[in-house]
Amino acid sequence: MISEPFQPKIQADMVIRNIGQLVTVAQQPIAGASGPLQVINDAALAVHHDKIVWIGPDDDAEPLFQHETSTHKDGITIVDAERAVVTPGFVDSHTHLIFAGDRAEEFHLRRAGMSYGELLAQGRGILTTMNATRAASTDTLMKLALTRLNVIRSYGTTTVEVKTGYGLDIATEETCLRIINNLNIFEEAASHQHNRIRVVPTFLGAHSIPPEYKERRAAYVDLIMEKMLPSFAGMARFCDVFCEREAFTLEESRRILTRAKELGYQLKIHADQLSPSGGTRLAVELGAVSADHLDYASDTDLDAMREAGVVATLLPGCAYTLRSPYPSARRFLEHGLHVALATDFNPGTSYCENMQMMLGLAMSAMGMTLEEALIAATINGARALQLQDEIGSIEVGKRCELALWSITDYHEIGYHFGVNLVHSVLVQR
Ligand code: NIG
Ligand code: FE
Repeated sequence: MISEPFQPKIQADMVIRNIGQLVTVAQQPIAGASGPLQVINDAALAVHHDKIVWIGPDDDAEPLFQHETSTHKDGITIVDAERAVVTPGFVDSHTHLIFAGDRAEEFHLRRAGMSYGELLAQGRGILTTMNATRAASTDTLMKLALTRLNVIRSYGTTTVEVKTGYGLDIATEETCLRIINNLNIFEEAASHQHNRIRVVPTFLGAHSIPPEYKERRAAYVDLIMEKMLPSFAGMARFCDVFCEREAFTLEESRRILTRAKELGYQLKIHADQLSPSGGTRLAVELGAVSADHLDYASDTDLDAMREAGVVATLLPGCAYTLRSPYPSARRFLEHGLHVALATDFNPGTSYCENMQMMLGLAMSAMGMTLEEALIAATINGARALQLQDEIGSIEVGKRCELALWSITDYHEIGYHFGVNLVHSVLVQR
């Protein structure tokens, strides 16, 4: 009898087999999966081009993809996950990773009792980093960013939002945006085929009033609206504003974000972080994708956010660094909000690239369960970037962006703390 040449029933170019626990965080029911995170034990998944095409028990992968002992069969690359826990890669939806210098001195001044707001009002804080960033060469800024990207990836993040906001003049803001966009190009060109990180650019020219505009702040707002926003329109997906007593007033924030919206940017707001600034209400009014921080948001604000579908992004690294009270994630969840967790990686209020740390803090200090924290760090991070149809969960039709963990049960996340439990990421682009 002549045997037919092998025809896989599902077209795939990569099959990941021998997954100990596949934590899908799926939004649709998956056969054989259980619990709020839809976990499948002893699983496999298949990928064609950059999309997941099949998920199921490892035993079922055998006849479907006819894996023998080789690692490469009929054009299909077989990856042995060696019984690892596999989750969606983290989506870190709020970082400020383009900057030079550091603020260790201010960190220690705050231990001695100075507040973040006092330092900002003295022209330190963000402006200290602005000076270092303006003084740095493009090459230095790029190298610093690439180093940080590698750290971010090593802790399991596969998509990261990156804001400008330490240039605060046209030339430096543009340089920073170019670097952010070039990070994507660099990742595309890099030899590491299977761990390319995705970078989402945000323009945050309204981070602080630069010193040269101190006495004429309206002129800086005009500069943002008339020069920066129009010329950066193709370079950033989001426009963000630091709406705060020490930064931009509610009215200034409204003007900037309204103009940004007209120009096609999607919106984010640093809202109600240090005081009740009205930023959350503005996010609702303008249909922002997310409002971030929210330490002083009222119950009415939270109800309005839910109705408007604004994602609530919580940033526990700030409370940790500033020694301020942690916002209660329970309160946000009880208001029915989509809660995202992000690092807010920046030199002033959260000098930490590690999303596992944010999960740990959310569980220990903000009242989140592990399941809620994982949802917040994956699919809800994707929602905060309006990428929830593409990434943030492991489902057929979504992109393959995975974190592979060196643990045998996902319940170790948050429990075994202060160490890196991720051994690699696997991204197919
Ligand atoms: O998200 N609040 C404004 N921006 C950052 C802090 C930036 C800085 O201090 O350099 C934040 O906390
Ligand atoms: Fe921030």
